[in-house]
Parts: sequence; structure tokens; C-alpha cells
Amino acid sequence: MSTPDSPELYRFTQPIVGMIWAQTNQGVIGADGGMPWQLPEDMAQFKRVTMGHPVVMGRKTWDSFPAKFRPLPGRTNIVVTRQEGWGSTPGAAGAVVLDSLDQALVEAQLSPGGNEVWVLGGGQVFAQAMDSCNVAAITVINTDVPGDTQAPALGPEWSFRGASPVKGWHTSRNGTEYRFTLWAKGETEFVAPE
Ligand SMILES: NC(=O)c1ccc[n+]([C@@H]2O[C@H](COP(=O)([O-])OP(=O)(O)OC[C@H]3O[C@@H](n4cnc5c(N)ncnc54)[C@H](OP(=O)(O)O)[C@@H]3O)[C@@H](O)[C@H]2O)c1
Repeated sequence: MSTPDSPELYRFTQPIVGMIWAQTNQGVIGADGGMPWQLPEDMAQFKRVTMGHPVVMGRKTWDSFPAKFRPLPGRTNIVVTRQEGWGSTPGAAGAVVLDSLDQALVEAQLSPGGNEVWVLGGGQVFAQAMDSCNVAAITVINTDVPGDTQAPALGPEWSFRGASPVKGWHTSRNGTEYRFTLWAKGETEFVAPE
């Protein structure tokens, strides 16, 4: 297995169910229903990684996207909620709405591009989806800003597979420091594309 030193270039050689998130050094992923930072380079990375593949998210993460940006184009957007009837509300337009995360993951794998499924969070959904996932693409932002939503803790079954940059940080055009990291479970394989 080759380990890419630039995770934004990875391609998987087997079906994957991945989680993708951005977090602070302390694992904060959200605050007040949004993300407490601006990082255009991470948004570009998120788009590159998830484009063409189904995405699964909790209703609160869906709600956190400005209406004009949802559904995320080029991706089947699957949203889980326990609210009966929410799928018929105007706020759900463009989403495939399901009331079970297991069902959402099956539906995603049957959707276009379902050889790679990306779970987008948030905190509640990551915590429940972890056991079903074999990849985690994590952007670490070099900040200690506080928040109210936490990334899941990766257990010993997860191993670090690469980072960009290999050491240290990229610096955003807005001055924020960040790095892309890739984690996987077990024998999950990936290669850099040609
Ligand atoms: N930094 C990042 O990369 C990142 C990524 C994603 C999200 N976020 C942030 O995380 C925060 C949102 O996360 P969150 O943990 O509060 O909420 P969330 O996980 O996005 O959504 C939770 C909601 O999903 C539904 N749900 C959860 N589990 C379900 C299940 N098993 N079956 C059916 N429905 C289920 C419920 O919706 P109902 O209440 O409708 O029943 C629940 O209230 C926001 O601040 C967002 O900006 C950050």
C-alpha cells in the first residue's frame, strides 16, 4: 500500500464509507449550529473529496447549510431525522430523507457513486456512524476556539495514514493554519491517482 503524503490526492481501491470533518486542536467541530471558523481551502477540499458521491448527514447539519447551497450539487444528499413529516417541508427540498441511519447508509451505497459514501456529521451522526465507517478525512485547524459540538474520538482500531503537509501546517489565505489528515481502519487501501 502506498501512503500518499497529500491526502487530497487519494483514491480508494475498495468501497469505503468515510467520515469527513474539520476540527480544532481540541476536537471542536461546531458552535451555535455552525462552524466557528472560515476556511475556504477546507471547503474546496471537502468539495473535491465528496463530489460525485452520496453524502449522509443529520438534520441539524443540513440545516446549517445556507438554503442556496443545499442540496450539495453533484451528490445524493441523504438526511436523517426522527421528525415525521419533516421530509415534506420546504426546508427539506432536494434531500432524500430517512428516519434511520442504517437505512441511510444502505441507500447511500445504492446511489450513484456509492462505492464511496461520505458521512458529513454532525456530532450526533458521527458518534453513531463510526462503527460502520472505515475512513476518516479530518482537517485539523490550528485554533483553540471553543464550541458545543465535538468530533468523535477515534479508537485503537483506527490508524493514521497520511497528512498534508507531512509536518507542520498549511496557511490559508486568511492566515488560518490547517492540515489535512487521513485515518483508516484495518486494511483499508488507497493509492494516489495517476
Ligand atoms: N466541522 C465540521 O466538519 C462539521 C461537520 C458537520 C457538522 N458540523 C457542525 O455540527 C453541528 C451539528 O451537529 P449535531 O451533532 O448538533 O447534529 P447532527 O448530527 O447534524 O444532526 C442531529 C439530528 O439528526 C437526526 N438524527 C440523528 N441520529 C439519527 C438517527 N439515528 N435516526 C434518525 N435521525 C437521526 C435528528 O434530527 P431531528 O432532530 O430532526 O429528529 C438529530 O437531531 C453544527 O454546529 C454543524 O455546523 C461541523
